[in-house]
Amino acid sequence: MKVLVTGGTGYIGSHTCVALQAAGHEITIADNLSNSSPEALARIARISGTRPGFQALDMRDAPGLEKLFDAQCFDAIMHFAGVKAVAESVADPLKYYSNNVMGSIALFDSALRHGVTRLVFSSSATVYGENSRSPIREDAPVAPVNPYGRSKHMVEEILTEMCRANAGLRVMALRYFNPVGAHPSGLVGEAPVGTPNNLMPYLCQVAAGRLEELTVFGTDYPTPDGTAVRDYIHVMDLAEGHLRALEFLESHGGMHLVNLGTGRGTSVLEMLTAFQRVNQVPIPHRFGARRPGDTKETFADVALADRVLGWRTQYSLDDMCRDAWRWQKMNPKGYE
Ligand code: NAD
Ligand code: UD1
Repeated sequence: MKVLVTGGTGYIGSHTCVALQAAGHEITIADNLSNSSPEALARIARISGTRPGFQALDMRDAPGLEKLFDAQCFDAIMHFAGVKAVAESVADPLKYYSNNVMGSIALFDSALRHGVTRLVFSSSATVYGENSRSPIREDAPVAPVNPYGRSKHMVEEILTEMCRANAGLRVMALRYFNPVGAHPSGLVGEAPVGTPNNLMPYLCQVAAGRLEELTVFGTDYPTPDGTAVRDYIHVMDLAEGHLRALEFLESHGGMHLVNLGTGRGTSVLEMLTAFQRVNQVPIPHRFGARRPGDTKETFADVALADRVLGWRTQYSLDDMCRDAWRWQKMNPKGYE
């Protein structure tokens, strides 16, 4: 298939491009490089032997999208492009509605007019309400608590209504839990700008000596060891989930919402212990207060992904820690 990958130079998009090319698909990436580097293209090429097509493009640039769809015919779109920092979304909500919602509308509008009917969308477990009981099923109440989460849910709603209005559409929104890790080659990975907020990149930078110590946020949660529990999923498993979604849409129309997680919860302490054991590197850490807005426990019910996609995760927590650290060691400053 010929696939347009928006946001394909970013963290999850770049891994999915590697998987798409390995499966024989031809890809074109469209990205405005606001949170990624063109070096990712060279890295994807080093792993797969093929440099993907690339177009520097903002999703809100309607004439630019029009030109792209006029010039190339696509069988499907994987839509990763968007902004994703929760705290920033609270401080600058318009940035989130503009990039994530308006950008998606411009993309869908152009795609529809050019007859592209298959689409996979990057959604997030953030759309679920804070009080959802884990394991969280796809039919759990949706109640995002910040502009980022709301922007993702809005796009899901837009896609649902587009599918209702147009019987020919085939769409899957994938709700990712906590993506971590990197390609086992260490050539592509997550390159956060500035000090990372998320646990795994923070652990990596402490291990590398770039940050002094990890603060474990909260030790009094009602969980077995008192620290918060999440569903970390290796980015390679996530990439494979996208391939399965694309295959599924070959024979299924309408709108589909599917969780991508492991179905297992891991606490902050378990992650910290695994990282030190697997990589044989000490992580200076201290115990601090809860981080505002955090839930005690979030992990996915993955029965639907198993049933409809025939997909289950293959990579372990140890793989996530090993691959994240390899990427960090090989690329201390990301793609710089
Ligand atoms: P990323 O920032 O690494 O990748 C996103 C890419 O989109 C970047 O390359 C960026 O330059 C590009 N981009 C942003 N706004 C754009 C615009 N208006 N036009 C064109 N390109 C634009 O993020 P990621 O972690 O790879 O996330 C990919 C998608 O998955 C995002 O939509 C994100 O919201 C979603 N998601 C990510 C996570 C996560 O933890 N990483 C979890 C759930 C959902
Ligand atoms: C966060 C986002 C979520 C997004 C996800 C992407 C918030 C509130 N939520 O989820 O919307 O989809 O990232 O992966 O920002 N932790 C520490 N010390 C640290 C960093 C994190 O103890 O320095 C703990 C956190 O308190 C949490 C766990 O590690 O319990 C995971 O945190 P993080 O990686 O930021 O992910 P989420 O908060 O689950």
